[in-house]
Amino acid sequence: MQTRVAQLETGLADAVALLHAGQVVAFATETVYGLGADARQPEAIARIYTAKGRPSYNPLIVHVATPADAREYMATVSAFAPELMAAFWPGPLTLVVPRGGALAPSVSAGLPSVALRCPAHPLAQALLRAFAGPIAAPSANRSGFVSPTTAAHVLAELDGRIPLILDGGASAIGLESTVVDLTTNPPTLLRPGGITAEQIRAITGQLIVPDSYTPPIEDLRSPGLLARHYAPRKPAWRFTTADWPSVQACLRSCPPSVTLITDAPALHLDAPHETLLMPASALEYAAHLYDAVRRADAQSGAEIWVHMPDEHNGVWLAIHDRWQRATQPWTLREDRP
Ligand code: TXA
Ligand code: MG
Repeated sequence: MQTRVAQLETGLADAVALLHAGQVVAFATETVYGLGADARQPEAIARIYTAKGRPSYNPLIVHVATPADAREYMATVSAFAPELMAAFWPGPLTLVVPRGGALAPSVSAGLPSVALRCPAHPLAQALLRAFAGPIAAPSANRSGFVSPTTAAHVLAELDGRIPLILDGGASAIGLESTVVDLTTNPPTLLRPGGITAEQIRAITGQLIVPDSYTPPIEDLRSPGLLARHYAPRKPAWRFTTADWPSVQACLRSCPPSVTLITDAPALHLDAPHETLLMPASALEYAAHLYDAVRRADAQSGAEIWVHMPDEHNGVWLAIHDRWQRATQPWTLREDRP
C-alpha cells in the first residue's frame, strides 16, 4: 500500500471517501496525530488495531465535531458532562461516559462506557464535519511507542500500512488529551494532559487523582513489558535533582555515552555525552517531549537519561506521567554494572 501525505485542501475528499469505505486515515489534532476510522463500522475499527498492532482489549477514543454530536453516543448524560463540555470543548479533554447510540461495541473493547473527545484543531474539525459521523482514533503510532506530533512521525512508523495522512503541521499541545472518567463518583482522572486536574476540579469540586501514574511494580521488573508504553527503543532511566550526585558518580565510573534530557541548563553534560535542553515552561516542554524522545533515540548515546522536572503541578503532572511510562527509575540503573 502507498501512503500519501496531503494537506487538508487536497486530501479532504479522499479522506472522507476512505472513512466511508471503512478504511483508516491519519489526521492532525492539537494533542497528537490520530489514526481514524468510522466508529460505527466494526471492520473499520478492526483495521485500526491491525495497523497499530494494538491489543484489542485497549479501548479507543471516539471523536465528534460538537457537544451535541457527543450526546448521541451517551446512554445517559453523566453528572458534570454538560459543564465540562461547555468549559473545555473543543479541546484536549476526553470524557468517559456510558456508551450509547450507533457506535460499534468494539470501539470501546466491549466496555459499557465510551471515551468521547471533541478536538479543536481546524483540520480535525473540518474532517469531522465533512464526514458527518463519529471517528474512532487512537494516537497514530505503532502500539507501545511514543505518539506522533507531526505527519513525518506518522509516516516514519506507518508508511505502507495506511493509505492517507492529513498533514496539519506540528501538534501544539504535544501530549495526549486529559482523560476523565465520569462513570465514577466523584470523577477520576485516568490520564493527565493539557487540561489540568486543577481546571477539572474547578468545575467538578472533587476529582480522584491516583497517587502515582507509575506502572505497577511487576512491569518495572519486566523492562520488556514496560518498554511497550510510550517508550523509546534505547534503555531509558529517569532521575530527580536529588539523585544528581549519584548520577555524576555513575558517569565517572560506569557508563557508555548518554543522551541527557533536562530542563536545567546547569546539568549540561560534556562530550562524548549529549544534552537535549528542554524549555522552561510546562506547555513548551510538553509540546517538545515526544520529539525529544525521537531525537534521543536517533542520537549516538547508548542510553537516555531523563532529569525529571522539579515541578509537579498543572501540565507538569502530565509530563511526569509520560516520563514515568517511558523510563525506568534511577534506583534500577544504580544496581547495574
Ligand atoms: O489526544 C488524544 O486523546 C489522542 C488524539 C488522537 O485524540 N488519542 C489518544 O488515543 O491518545 P489512545 O487510544 O492512544 O488513548 C486512549 C486512552 C487510553 O489510555 C485508553 O485506555 C483510554 O483512553 N480509554 C479509552 N476508552 C476508555 C474507556 N471506555 N474507559 C476507560 N478508558 C478508556
Ligand atoms: Mg496512544
